[in-house]
Amino acid sequence: MTRYFAIVPAAGSGRRMGAERPKQYLDLCGKPLLWHALTALAGVTRIHTVFVVLSPEDDWWGRFDWSGFGSRLQVLRVGGETRAQSVGNALRSIFAQVAAEDWMLVHDAARACLSVAQVEALIDALTDDPVGGLLAQPVADTLKRADKAARVVETVTRDALWQAQTPQMFRHGLLSRALAQCPGVTDEAGAVEALGLAPRLVAAEAPNFKVTYPQDLALAELILQARSKS
Ligand code: CTP
Ligand code: MG
Repeated sequence: MTRYFAIVPAAGSGRRMGAERPKQYLDLCGKPLLWHALTALAGVTRIHTVFVVLSPEDDWWGRFDWSGFGSRLQVLRVGGETRAQSVGNALRSIFAQVAAEDWMLVHDAARACLSVAQVEALIDALTDDPVGGLLAQPVADTLKRADKAARVVETVTRDALWQAQTPQMFRHGLLSRALAQCPGVTDEAGAVEALGLAPRLVAAEAPNFKVTYPQDLALAELILQARSKS
């Protein structure tokens, strides 16, 4: 039977956040930011194991208590220089534990607002798909292309444009092959597209932005607080 695994790349330095520690360890509702994404994925009973990918030099992980996750959470200290390298290294290091047809849900540690229901909906939408796909959102704003002086060169039609999010869900064999052939991508779907395949877009039903800049933290906090009250 095909199984589901989650891979959470968390080996970045959070340069744009500009904090005193990598952003995945900043406080969000009393927990390290990363805890929220891990909790959503571990809350999906169909997901066999959640693998978190850390930098080999990470000295923050051990300062927090992760024992609540038990054996459902496994740490891989194989982070690389880019996100794609971190994911590629993780896929190689779990090779013996998974089958080529098993589904991998790759999710940014920095997308803290992911909900269990959203992961369930993604899996339901893609489990019989021959390629796989990703959570995404149709672009709502009018788009402008700028020159170097930040003056508008043109208005770009937003028809059929989507913003890619995570989780991105592909089978271990296909994703490993795709990332090995196309290591310069910024998301898993980009590597699969480079093989000539068309990943499916699944519309996100709730906020799932990536905490990137300092102002994103307060918004994530409000969303998580509101959800915990409902
Ligand atoms: N990531 C990773 N390995 C890297 C770079 C990024 O595992 N070499 C992870 C980050 O930890 C994050 C996710 O990929 O969970 C998305 O990346 P991003 O939001 O860009 O995080 P950072 O690279 O840490 O932030 P910045 O680009 O601002 O430095
Ligand atoms: Mg980055």
